[in-house]
Amino acid sequence: MSLPELLPDTPEGHARAATLLGHGTLVALPTETVYGLAADATDDAAVAAIYAAKGRPGHNPLIVHVPDLATAEDIAAFSDAARALAHAFWPGPLTLVLPLKPDHGLSPRVTAGLPTVAIRVPAHPSMQAVLRAFGRPIAAPSANPSGKISATTPAHVLAGLGDRIAALLDAGPCAVGVESTILAPAPGGTRLLREGGLPREAIEHLTGPLIADTTPGAQIEAPGQLASHYAPETRLILGGTAQPGEIALGFGPMPCDLNLSPMADLAEAATNLFAALHTADALAAARAAPAIRVADVPEQGLGRAINDRLRRAAAPRD
Ligand code: TXA
Ligand code: MG
Repeated sequence: MSLPELLPDTPEGHARAATLLGHGTLVALPTETVYGLAADATDDAAVAAIYAAKGRPGHNPLIVHVPDLATAEDIAAFSDAARALAHAFWPGPLTLVLPLKPDHGLSPRVTAGLPTVAIRVPAHPSMQAVLRAFGRPIAAPSANPSGKISATTPAHVLAGLGDRIAALLDAGPCAVGVESTILAPAPGGTRLLREGGLPREAIEHLTGPLIADTTPGAQIEAPGQLASHYAPETRLILGGTAQPGEIALGFGPMPCDLNLSPMADLAEAATNLFAALHTADALAAARAAPAIRVADVPEQGLGRAINDRLRRAAAPRD
C-alpha cells in the first residue's frame, strides 16, 4: 500500500473515514487513550486485515467500539454491575468484557471465537463522530505493530503502520496516553484484566475491591497481559542509578535526558509515556546507548497503568 490518505479532523474527514471503513479498509482513528487501527467489526475480511497489519496472533481478540451504551447492549449482555460501571464511566477509558448476545452481528474473528466481547464507548469527539457517521461497531486494537510501543500521535502511527493503512485521521496527540482499563464484571466480583486510563481507585470507589488478574504471564485471558509488550528496541531498565551512556527517562524534578513529568504529575506522565519511550528509543539509537533507565513512578492512580506498561516494556523477550 502507498502512503495513507491523511484525513482532517473535520466533518468531511469523519465522513471520509466512515466511507473508507464501509469499503472494508483499515483506518487509523484517534481515541482519548491511544490511536486505534480501525475496521468494520462486522466485516470478516476487514477484521482479518487488522490482525495481518499488526502481525497480531489470531487468538488475541480485539476491542469493539460503539457510540453509546444502548448500542453496546445490542451486542453484549449487561448485568446490573456492568450497567452501573457503564453509567459511571462511559464514554471514557474503560473496556468491559461481557458475554456476547446472540445475533450480535460481529465477525467471529473480533472475539477470536470467544463467547465474550471486549467493548467500550470512547470519549474522543472525533471517534464519536466517526462511529455515528459509520453506524456500525468499529473493531480497533492499538495502532502499533504487535508487541511494540503504542501510538499516541499521528507520527507514531505512520512510523509503525504507515505502509499498511488506507488512511489516518489526524486529531493530534491523545489526551489520556495509556490504553483503557479492562474489567470483567462477574457474579463473584469484578476482575481487573488490565490497568489503564481509568484509575483503579476510581472504580473501587464504586465497586469495592477489584479482583486483580493482571500479573504478567499469570493468566493469558487478555493476551495484552503477555509479559513482554510495549517493547522499545533498546533495553529498558526500571529504577536504580543511571550508568554513564544510558538514556535517563525521569519523573519529577531530576537531571535526565527526558522527563515524563518534571512536576511529578501522573496524568501528565501517562499522556507523555509512549511518546517518551519512542523518543528515548530514537535517542538511544543515535547515541548507541546500551539502555534506557526509567526513574521510579509511584504505584497509585494512573501510576499503576504507567508501571504496568513499563514493566512489560522491560520484560525479557523471547
Ligand atoms: O484504549 C484502548 O483500549 C485501545 C483503544 C484503541 O481503544 N485499544 C486497545 O486494544 O488497547 P488492544 O487490542 O491493544 O488491547 C485489547 C486487549 C488485549 O489485551 C486483548 O487480549 C483484550 O483486550 N481482550 C479483547 N477481547 C477480550 C476478551 N473477550 N476477553 C479478555 N480480554 C480481551
Ligand atoms: Mg495494544
